Amino acid sequence: TRPIIIDCDPGHDDAIALILACASPSLDIKAVTTSAGNQTPEKTLNNALRILTLLGRNDIPVAGGALKPLARELIIADNVHGESGLDGPSLPDPGFDPVGENAVELMARVLRESDRPVTLVPTGPLTNIALLLATHRELADKIERIVLMGGGAETGNWSPAAEFNIYVDPEAADIVFRSGIPVTMCGLDVTHRAQIMDEDIERIRAIGNPVSDVVAGLLDFFMIYHRDPKWELAGAPLHDPCTIAWLLKPEIFTEQDCWVGIETKGEYTQGMTVVDRYQLSGKPANTTVLFDVDRQGFVDLLAESMHFYG
Ligand code: BDR
Ligand code: CA
Repeated sequence: TRPIIIDCDPGHDDAIALILACASPSLDIKAVTTSAGNQTPEKTLNNALRILTLLGRNDIPVAGGALKPLARELIIADNVHGESGLDGPSLPDPGFDPVGENAVELMARVLRESDRPVTLVPTGPLTNIALLLATHRELADKIERIVLMGGGAETGNWSPAAEFNIYVDPEAADIVFRSGIPVTMCGLDVTHRAQIMDEDIERIRAIGNPVSDVVAGLLDFFMIYHRDPKWELAGAPLHDPCTIAWLLKPEIFTEQDCWVGIETKGEYTQGMTVVDRYQLSGKPANTTVLFDVDRQGFVDLLAESMHFYG
């Protein structure tokens, strides 16, 4: 099994990433920490507790993270994820409490205590991960890899140049991409190909257990924002679950090692991930960038994982 820590801002697609990860015996989830992003830090923490309660996973330590980005005010995505951050299906109230540590303290303790390097899986703004790297440099070699959802080589979704997670805290992303730790970037290039269609939602709903019902409800709500024809999508892009899917089935993805830099000062490009696909910068690759996925393979992985829950 592979030890991982998930740092997330649930968020519909974050919740589905958690559900997929918890259904996978090859992943050992050592902690779940939460970032401010899709909703306020109080709400994303509460949502992580609600999802883990639904899954009966109150054995996983949970901690809340930074209240705002390193150097900027928080921007939230309530236009995508609603008032609660997880609008749509009915969810249980949290059945357990976060640990007494904050996100950075919990991540540091897990790394220190682990006899094997741990993979970090951030699916929100990178504030907590940057704080961990900045304050616990000595633990860098206990991090196997950072498999993150964020960025995009071709386009943004929050500004013309930037994807939401990187746009919210570009200074944090800059620290992560320059850390020297191997990074896998699941950006919009791949996540816009990891689309879920209406018929896929019906397939998941038909599995008919309490978790698949919630996933179908989350997807119904997540679909609403993406139906706008301006996105040129046939379904909803399941961004965050791509991280977990890559850990479980890397063979369904197309990837290329590239140098990636983060734009923190641009007039129009704040939070852009500058991906050197054609080796024009002369800088060594620091990131495995995912460009494509076998969509059907991705949907099959997600749908089949629902049987884990009954
Ligand atoms: C990212 O932004 C959030 O709204 C999603 O949860 C995902 O992590 C996509 O840009
Ligand atoms: Ca997210």
